[in-house]
Amino acid sequence: MSALTDSPAWQALVAHRAIIGRQTMREMFRADPARFDKFSLRLDGLLLDYSKNLITAETLELLLKLARQAKVEAWVARMFGGEKINTSEGRAVLHTALRAPRGSRITVDGKDVVPEVHRVLDQMRRFSDGVRGGSLRGHTGKAFRDVVNIGIGGSALGPLMVSEALKPYGSAQLNMHFVSNVDATDLAETTKRLDPETTLFIVSSKTFTTQETLTNARSARAWLVDRLKSEEAVARHFAAISTNLAATSQFGINPGNVFEFWDWVGGRYSVWSAIGLPVALYIGMDNFERFLAGAHAMDRHFHETPLERNLPAIMGMLGIWYADFFGAASNAILPYDRYLQHFPAYLQQLEMESNGKRVDREGQEVDYATQMVVWGEPGTDGQHSFYQLLHQGTRLIPADFLAPVTSHNPMGDHHAMLLSNCFAQTEALMLGKTAEEARAELAAQGLTGLELEALLPCKVFPGNRPTNALLFDRLDPHTLGMLVALYEHKVFVQGVVLDINSFDQWGVELGKQLAGKLLPELLGNRPVSSHDASTNGLINHYLVASGKTGC
Ligand code: F6P
Repeated sequence: MSALTDSPAWQALVAHRAIIGRQTMREMFRADPARFDKFSLRLDGLLLDYSKNLITAETLELLLKLARQAKVEAWVARMFGGEKINTSEGRAVLHTALRAPRGSRITVDGKDVVPEVHRVLDQMRRFSDGVRGGSLRGHTGKAFRDVVNIGIGGSALGPLMVSEALKPYGSAQLNMHFVSNVDATDLAETTKRLDPETTLFIVSSKTFTTQETLTNARSARAWLVDRLKSEEAVARHFAAISTNLAATSQFGINPGNVFEFWDWVGGRYSVWSAIGLPVALYIGMDNFERFLAGAHAMDRHFHETPLERNLPAIMGMLGIWYADFFGAASNAILPYDRYLQHFPAYLQQLEMESNGKRVDREGQEVDYATQMVVWGEPGTDGQHSFYQLLHQGTRLIPADFLAPVTSHNPMGDHHAMLLSNCFAQTEALMLGKTAEEARAELAAQGLTGLELEALLPCKVFPGNRPTNALLFDRLDPHTLGMLVALYEHKVFVQGVVLDINSFDQWGVELGKQLAGKLLPELLGNRPVSSHDASTNGLINHYLVASGKTGC
């Protein structure tokens, strides 16, 4: 047993789990009409209803004891204070500094980083105002109409998710495109519809060494130069965002169009930095700053609020409750807002790259579950696809339901219908339908005898399936900033309690290394035998089928 699973706080939860396992949420709600008031929290326009969880007041007390045993509050202070808590990379973790107001002071290695952050934000404002206002134009003097972000992972998912989420605030003059995959189809299908004279490329890469991004950037550059018949055009049509300024200059990006960020910003935590430039171009810098302000409001809440009323802490501990004490392996993210369609994919990287680890901070293999698989789809689409499994499958899948009170697109009764589905799903997952209820329903429909008995098991819903509901007034920049920061801090709480470094990602390296070795073999024409039989077989099949080599 590890020190964590052997600890009093963990063991108390193991014992408590057995007691909770004998209760149902139905009974809990029946016994306590004030359950919603007890287990819901409000922050600005955000409501977290966590009453439909398999918890009692005692469960929360025990979960927060576990959080305190892990010294969550002290770790929060260490992160906000700029300590190098990303130990395997020797870095501070300061995405919170990216949304700190002008004039605050946050130091890394004795240097206040806030003036630097605002220097780049000012540069983003000048650039985005210039492009949106038409003073920054392409090589032939035309205003930009299309922006293509070339980047992957944290250098793509954040700008993509936020641009889509804040579409109602987007410029009607600019079309946003996101090219991430090294599959040439991504770039080819995007450029097919573009006019090079009015296209701006933004190459986003923290390291500026990522194969997919640099390959796409080179091909985009070749496309532009070929179409505009000018190497000089690159200076006006390309911008770059990176921590590696030497590499951006080597690539030939005009230094005036290079936006810096810093190694204390993790890729998946970087949308608040210049990596958010496509968002700023699209929604304007004032709205981008509202997005930052929303995140800052959540930072303050997280930093200053006791765990008992702390939204990220509560959500984080509920996740641990299900992953480690109920064996839940996945967590569904179900936005009832079409604009949040990329939110589940964004959270996949945020959560799974952060806490999908198998060793603790000391390098010891853990004996408890870490990150659940995160997945999801928007709104009622999911209901007609995978909700069957949520309701009647054999697995417990905790789910987060997210919905706006007010739609950006009021149209007849659409929004009331959307919300009725959202609320009904959380109710159905909690209540289920007992055999007695199902029997009465079938009888009322006129079924009797063997026919009724045969259908009955299919009509029973076990219920008791946990959900969180996050309601917000409207999906505006401030609210989105709060939501994203809420999940960032939830991940942080879980990482601390599970004794994980949430800020490295060594697990992505092996595949990259092997692909690097394999590429020359695919580009060559000799059959290979140096790998395992399967990999040899795949490579040799490709070489033969693509006509590179004979059989
Ligand atoms: O491969 C994983 C990863 O390192 C992510 O953490 C990161 O967001 C992504 O690649 C892109 O990296 P970069 O911004 O350096 O190109």
